[in-house]
Amino acid sequence: MSVSVIFRTFDPMKNLSTRRSIRQYSDKEVSSELLNRLMTEASRTQTMGNLQLYSVIVTRSEEMKERLAPAHFNQPMVKQAPVVLTICADFRRTTRWCEERKAQPGYNNFLSYQNAAIDALLYTQTLCNLMDEEGLGYCYLGTTVYQPQQIIDALELPQLVMPVATLTVGWPAEEPPLTDRLPMESFVHEETYHDYTSQDIDKYYHEKENLEENRHFCEINHKETLAQIFTDIRYTKKDNEAMSITLLETLKKQGFI
Ligand SMILES: Cc1cc2nc3c(=O)[nH]c(=O)nc-3n(C[C@H](O)[C@H](O)[C@H](O)COP(=O)(O)O)c2cc1C
Repeated sequence: MSVSVIFRTFDPMKNLSTRRSIRQYSDKEVSSELLNRLMTEASRTQTMGNLQLYSVIVTRSEEMKERLAPAHFNQPMVKQAPVVLTICADFRRTTRWCEERKAQPGYNNFLSYQNAAIDALLYTQTLCNLMDEEGLGYCYLGTTVYQPQQIIDALELPQLVMPVATLTVGWPAEEPPLTDRLPMESFVHEETYHDYTSQDIDKYYHEKENLEENRHFCEINHKETLAQIFTDIRYTKKDNEAMSITLLETLKKQGFI
């Protein structure tokens, strides 16, 4: 078999330059065959010690989507998407393997959660890239870590398994405009970290702050600056502190701390 047959052609510029989150899906089915192929291919991603410290729960049934939806603050994609994937940091399987092979596992600690969460997120992003190549639409749901206990209960996740990411997946029924990005100089630091002056902040956030839609957000929410939309409405100190406590309690229950 020639090399060109073994390796798929992949043009990251073509795919990444047009990628966007998709929140509306057509009724067309996402076949198990396609999904299983992509989930297998995504497992080529790098992981700690090649242990693959992740698991994916595939949700297709209406009943299970109904159960997951409240955990995601009823974001409509959960019930509308043909498939919902919950990607978990998973030290359970490795721990079980050790137990079955006369090896003493020591993975019920926070470092192990961090390692498994990194593996799970790397796998998630690789899967996203592969779905982009196929033209599949998806949206990442950060709400996964806001009320994790509801997800744990619905999906019957055992100890040392913690949900870290959710993807709603389907064939796109929308083509939203591309979102803005900060310029590269704003996040790349040569040799050492260069902290931000007032002028830097003005320069790097100028475009974002002056987008029509963002000006509109400020207007309708009666906010003076775009940053206040984040601090006062979208991601507030009060919510962040409350959900941090919940997250830590859940990590404790799942045996990671
Ligand atoms: C950690 C994380 C959490 C996110 N959570 C949500 C979410 O709960 N709901 C949603 O509609 N989009 C969510 N998104 C998608 C982002 O809103 C989106 O990626 C961002 O606005 C940039 O838009 P784009 O993906 O279309 O380029 C999330 C993305 C990430 C990486």
